[in-house]
Amino acid sequence: VLSRFQLSEEYGFLLPNPLTELPPPYSPWMEIAHELPQLIASHQLRARIRQMPQLNTQHLWGREELHLAHLVLSFLTMGYVWQEGEKGTTKVLPHNLAVPFWEVSQALGLPPILSHADFVLANWRRKDPSGNLEPIISLPGGESLRGFILVTLLVEKAAVPGIKATIQAVHAIRHLDNELLHRALLGLAAAIGDMGKALQRMHDYVDPAVFYTVIRIFLSGWRDNAAMPHGLLYEGVSEQPMAFSGGSAAQSSVLHVFDELLGIRHSQESTAFLLRMRDYMPPPHRAFIKDISGAPSLRQHILSSADTRLREAFNRCVTALVGFRSLHIAIVTKYIAVAKAKAGQQQAGSAGKPPAALEAKGTGGSHIFTFLKSVRDSTREGLISA
Ligand code: ALA
Repeated sequence: VLSRFQLSEEYGFLLPNPLTELPPPYSPWMEIAHELPQLIASHQLRARIRQMPQLNTQHLWGREELHLAHLVLSFLTMGYVWQEGEKGTTKVLPHNLAVPFWEVSQALGLPPILSHADFVLANWRRKDPSGNLEPIISLPGGESLRGFILVTLLVEKAAVPGIKATIQAVHAIRHLDNELLHRALLGLAAAIGDMGKALQRMHDYVDPAVFYTVIRIFLSGWRDNAAMPHGLLYEGVSEQPMAFSGGSAAQSSVLHVFDELLGIRHSQESTAFLLRMRDYMPPPHRAFIKDISGAPSLRQHILSSADTRLREAFNRCVTALVGFRSLHIAIVTKYIAVAKAKAGQQQAGSAGKPPAALEAKGTGGSHIFTFLKSVRDSTREGLISA
């Protein structure tokens, strides 16, 4: 099942051991990508990108090269658009960046903007033989940016046993094997608990002020964003500007899969956003979510069997998911709401002015607190009562 959906036994939705270098013809992209934070800080990135040759994407071969190319071009694009902050945006992405980015995006079935698949899934390597990880490409924000990427990566890694448990659970329902189902559900609940522990490490590695004032804008997009109300013109690709959402944890396939297995139903508005975020996932992962949603209903199976052990294990999964979503809300409170209040007290200056358009919105364009709370509360409603 795993390989059919480009899922890895060891890494789940993460790209296993991503490439870190493109073939030599693409060195003009890589050179800029490796200097991104400095080029942005010195306001030179736009000029450098305009001087870049327009490279032909035909020499990219295979999924690994395409993912690395998408990662690199998406980071270049975010840097280009946001280099001068929310007041100095641009209407046009120059053709020498827009055309190859568009072609690589088409080849992968991904949108031409930075998404979770770039920022996290394809953006990791081992720094040294001891196995410490680091992102391949960075944006401004130094250690906090690296921490934000790596903690998100650890959450994806912690989810892997849960993905396997999900597949097992579906198999068990199909074969009416309640012993296996029980074990799978306990495994899923444990994995969600471990994802929460991984998420908590955000507190150790990411500074709220840096996240709020420096990092967020580079993850934001040109749809549902007052700073870019008209979208972005991809020069040489289309005559009309196009609108794409910025990065969002809702683009991670993990919780979509768990929600589908557990039969969690979100509000109409939240569901609309969540479904739209699936367009920002690699198509095989999207297909996996669909596969799980089309499987025989776990909830029905549990309701119609009188097995209280099963019901308890099911509820343990739902409770773990509510807990994980509460942790997420607490983190967003600290990194966005509290960080906003503190930034407001300080003299504008040193750390720079945080983007006003992102005060109440997530970088993906949702009304972040309403959305996260609604999703958490509807998860709780998924409990099966005795
Ligand atoms: N989506 C996260 C935010 O809104 C990254 O900041």
